[in-house]
Amino acid sequence: MSETQRTVTVRVPAKINLLLAVGPRRPDGFHELSTVFCAVGLYDTVTASPATDLSVRLTGPESAGLPADARNLAWRAAVLLAEHVGIEPRVRLSIDKAIPVAAGLAGGSADAAATLLACARLWNLTVEPAALDALAAELGSDVSFALHGGCALGTGRGERLRPVPAAAAFSWVLAAASGGLSTPGVYAELDRQRAAGTGSPAAGGPEPVIAALGSGDPHLLADRLGNDLEPAALALAPYLGATLGAGRRLGALGGLVSGSGPTCAFLAPDGEAAERLAHGLLASGTCRFARAVVGGAARPELTVRANQSPDAPLIPAVDRTADLPGANHVADTLKADGKS
Ligand code: C5P
Repeated sequence: MSETQRTVTVRVPAKINLLLAVGPRRPDGFHELSTVFCAVGLYDTVTASPATDLSVRLTGPESAGLPADARNLAWRAAVLLAEHVGIEPRVRLSIDKAIPVAAGLAGGSADAAATLLACARLWNLTVEPAALDALAAELGSDVSFALHGGCALGTGRGERLRPVPAAAAFSWVLAAASGGLSTPGVYAELDRQRAAGTGSPAAGGPEPVIAALGSGDPHLLADRLGNDLEPAALALAPYLGATLGAGRRLGALGGLVSGSGPTCAFLAPDGEAAERLAHGLLASGTCRFARAVVGGAARPELTVRANQSPDAPLIPAVDRTADLPGANHVADTLKADGKS
């Protein structure tokens, strides 16, 4: 297959934080974190196609208002990777967005991670996994996790990762309000609350959450969820109290604000209960978006196609991204000519 024919697609999941313990603000402005990330089955899809220059096109139900230029983290990811290897960032990025924006679900980080994976493959680069992780960390605190998915303990700014095993796929509902919250704004509100002595007690260490994930017991996990940013998000977006209350009334085992919010994540006993909860939350009028998703097993998935025609059959091909993060879970396919 010639280079001009090939496109690379990466489907990349959103994340929630099962625990987000926030330490003091560091001299560089970031906060030292101890967080348990969990990828959830709500995906953006980034397709990288050969081009003579760099462009970004946004489609999908959650794409409204997003910039398609250097303000977009995916754009910056393509530029950073190209600079790293000394080439021009020649790629057309098409981003199909299903992950709500500025929602505490790391959608922008997911797009950036998918762009790193897709461009590395499109441009036939050999990039060490550690180098790709470093580029991801440069782009944002959540981008490193988005490269890998699954569940992981994050420390430092959130970019230092240790995989965490989950014994079962847990059933979640994501409930997003209209509008977003600014991540720096939520951290600043936490600092303000702490300085004023009005903040809630800090979440504990990650071990109880990690043990609950390993146990596969959603009741145990529900008791151990925690987010130090939640009181700050609630102060900035008081309507979130109604969403959290509705989820609990409707039978969620537990619920919390995801990351810096405003999305709330609710844990359900099983998939059917999650579907019922999602319907109930939408009907409650406390959110504009409610989706039942499975958490813990979602990872980036990469597909190579000879061209963009959706009709041609796909056949398995040798995966040459095996050394890249996420590649253990790559579904690599080529069109029927079988050549790469
Ligand atoms: O790394 P990222 O671009 O996602 O961070 C956005 C903002 O969130 C930072 O500029 C900072 O204000 C805040 N943040 C923080 N501590 C972290 C991660 C993010 O204060 N560990």
